[in-house]
Amino acid sequence: MGSRTLPATKVLAKEMMPLVDRPIIQHAVEEAIGVGIRELIFVTAETKEIIRAHFQRNAVLEKELALRGKQELLEVVRNIPPAGTNCRYVIQQEPLGLGHAVLCARDLVGDESFAVILPDDLIYHETRTCLQQMIEIYREKNASVVAVQNVPLEDTPKYGIVETVEDAVAGKKMKSVVEKPAPEEAPSTLAIVGRYIFTPGIMPLLETTPRGAGNEIQLTDAIAALIRKEDVYLCEFEGKRNDCGSILGYMKANVDYALRHDDTGPEFHAYLTELMGKQGTD
Ligand code: G1P
Repeated sequence: MGSRTLPATKVLAKEMMPLVDRPIIQHAVEEAIGVGIRELIFVTAETKEIIRAHFQRNAVLEKELALRGKQELLEVVRNIPPAGTNCRYVIQQEPLGLGHAVLCARDLVGDESFAVILPDDLIYHETRTCLQQMIEIYREKNASVVAVQNVPLEDTPKYGIVETVEDAVAGKKMKSVVEKPAPEEAPSTLAIVGRYIFTPGIMPLLETTPRGAGNEIQLTDAIAALIRKEDVYLCEFEGKRNDCGSILGYMKANVDYALRHDDTGPEFHAYLTELMGKQGTD
């Protein structure tokens, strides 16, 4: 619903809020494409037709850019997404939770391993994206992998929190997981962030997962069932995460991305330096 970003998201899908020059969801798509994923499934709400429109060719715009000789921009818009990418859409009719959203894609996913990206969680690494780091573990272990990060104790009610077992040979595995525990009940401060790679075993478990925290079908509860059957590995990824689902997190992500961006970086840096200098003397 994007309730943390209202009123900006009263009409606009929160995934379409721009980070400098592209919508948040395009970053997620680029991360997936960067690791070789070519089948993309968007689980969205009926009101979010704009997402589908963004990832479709726009003949009118392309023609106009061609007429005006704007070749570089034309290439940019033509490649959203790059040729060879297959985008499919599933409508989640009711907001019944993340587990339910993943289950909505069951028929399209089939009996295959798959990755889940929550676009709100923007994760930056200069050379190896979070998904890249996770796929390396997945390939080595041939098992599900969940991205985790340490969070302040008072923040455990915002996340799925994991308990780990460390095997010197096998690496860090999940021992248990609980959705949004109070700090005094949290098994650790290691929180799940929005990247998962699953073996096909998760889907049947999601089907029988009852409603949990917040009266929603929780992906976390299905993961808790999965670890009773299979190993689930943790990826304590390297990189910087921004939570774009809140206004403050979104603002920070915009500043970080604008500073890194080739076109805006140097001037924006100079602007911020000047601004901070002025604040100091006010
Ligand atoms: C979801 C998951 C939670 C996870 C979080 C990461 O929660 O249910 O386990 O830690 O994403 O961002 P949400 O943020 O949708 O409430």
